[in-house]
Amino acid sequence: MRRIVCLTGAGMSAESGISTFRDNGGLWDQYRVEDVATPEGWERNPRLVTDFYNGQREKLLLVKPNPGHLGLARLEEKYEVHIITQNIDDLHERAGSSHVVHLHGELTKMRGCVHEDYVVSLQPGQYHQSYGQKTPYGDLLRPHIVWFGEAVPMIETAIELTQRADIYVVIGSSLQVYPAAGLLHYLPMGVPLYVIDPKEVPLPSRPEVCFLQKTATEGVEEILKILM
Ligand code: APR
Repeated sequence: MRRIVCLTGAGMSAESGISTFRDNGGLWDQYRVEDVATPEGWERNPRLVTDFYNGQREKLLLVKPNPGHLGLARLEEKYEVHIITQNIDDLHERAGSSHVVHLHGELTKMRGCVHEDYVVSLQPGQYHQSYGQKTPYGDLLRPHIVWFGEAVPMIETAIELTQRADIYVVIGSSLQVYPAAGLLHYLPMGVPLYVIDPKEVPLPSRPEVCFLQKTATEGVEEILKILM
């Protein structure tokens, strides 16, 4: 089976009602990154960070996968599909995608501050977390999110997937945040690259790029027409 690798960013979930980060009115207009998405922010005010992610989790209960997410899951009828997402929501999984790599962590999980491999999945009834809970090893639980300034453990997996792709699709990412933005450097020459975004994004100059200036929903519909 041919392998499609799809890199998704905040624009993938925009039509589900989850705001992007850098568009006008995006999340980083409303919150200071340093307060809620850095290890220093957590050190300074862990209760604020806990509340912030509780709020983000509550939003998950109000949204559902959009036709773009569902379309990517449909590609599995004909292809081996791997999603590399910068999103921390669970909409790809809820749409039915089987292989999802979360580069920046997952809202629906908590992990140990020290014992990083101790990861707990939260059921919807547990989305409101109180600060101060501990792992069995005695260290604090924190959101399973890769904050700014932290290592991105899944990047190696993402690089390998990129190197082995037969077809590559980028959807709804401003390609401004590294290391995700650098993944395209690992895409072998000659591999067809489709980029879906309503705005222009910085693209590598290579002959095989097909830029679809569309929303995720419209763009995936187009991809399905081309590839299915
Ligand atoms: N469909 C597709 N793309 C869209 C849509 C839509 N309906 N609406 C907006 N977009 C595009 C924007 O034009 C922009 O290029 O989605 C992109 C979103 O860019 P960012 O907000 O920068 O999000 P992303 O690239 O995912 O950010 C990367 O930065 O803040 C951190 O950790 C956070 O994972 C995030 C990372």
